[in-house]
Amino acid sequence: MKTLIQTYTMSNGVKIPKIGFGTWQVPSGDIAYQSVAMALKNGYRHIDTAAAYQNEESVGKAIRDSGIPREEIFVTSKLHSHIKTYEGALEAFEKTMKALGIDYLDLYLIHAPWPWNEIGKDCSQGNVLAYKAMEKIYKDGKVRAIGVSNFNTKDLDNIIKHCDIIPHANQIGYFIGHNEKEVDEYCKAKNILVEAYSPLAIGHLLKNNDIQDMAKKYEVTPAQICIRYCIQKGTVPLPKSTHESRIIENSAVDFEIDKKDMIYLDSINDDPRKW
Ligand code: A2P
Repeated sequence: MKTLIQTYTMSNGVKIPKIGFGTWQVPSGDIAYQSVAMALKNGYRHIDTAAAYQNEESVGKAIRDSGIPREEIFVTSKLHSHIKTYEGALEAFEKTMKALGIDYLDLYLIHAPWPWNEIGKDCSQGNVLAYKAMEKIYKDGKVRAIGVSNFNTKDLDNIIKHCDIIPHANQIGYFIGHNEKEVDEYCKAKNILVEAYSPLAIGHLLKNNDIQDMAKKYEVTPAQICIRYCIQKGTVPLPKSTHESRIIENSAVDFEIDKKDMIYLDSINDDPRKW
């Protein structure tokens, strides 16, 4: 079976395709529309967007125009990181659904524990309020799973302590050299699925000598090593590209990195994104 159509099962029984197509930094309009259309044409069945990406309309249109039955595509979107109230979250969800033009979402996430322009700010109370709104949306049947993004263990503890539903997923920056051991172990213990955004470290990892050597050994590309690594770690990589040949390349990961090489890749500790 092709990895692209294999699934994980989240804690509530909902299945999620192992590879998602990311759309962060993919400009709204023709580029987002064509990228998502190419991904769906080439077999992707999991599309990840967010209100903050400002491309939900184009992403939704590509999904609707694809002709693929809605229930065959797993769609994720995210609540703006600055919205930390119950009513605000409910309103934002309605806006997201209107922009996407679809009837329900598969996964809805709090985009970050703090507003992007105030990274690190303590929004514990606001996160609980926003998450309670997501629980209502979930209980109303408008979304099949709920979760968070960019949450560390303390942020997750706060939600678990004050809310009813343990998040089904936590989407974090995750790639070779930056495998978030502490959050990953916490999530595995609580049965929270980890989704890996920027699995190529926004492209930087492709120049890494170790990864290039390993790609030669397995007769694949560096991008395929990066994506396969995430899958073998039990996470959902969300690679993105606006080029069809790369969209296809990133989905062709039906090979196995052996145990010794996985241990070697695990030992790399470097975040080349250099924020
Ligand atoms: P492009 O859209 O021009 O293809 P990440 O998913 O880690 O955020 O990385 C995305 C970046 O990596 C984008 O700049 C994308 O550029 C580039 N990229 C995606 N897939 C590949 C690939 N297979 N080979 C080379 N570059 C890629």
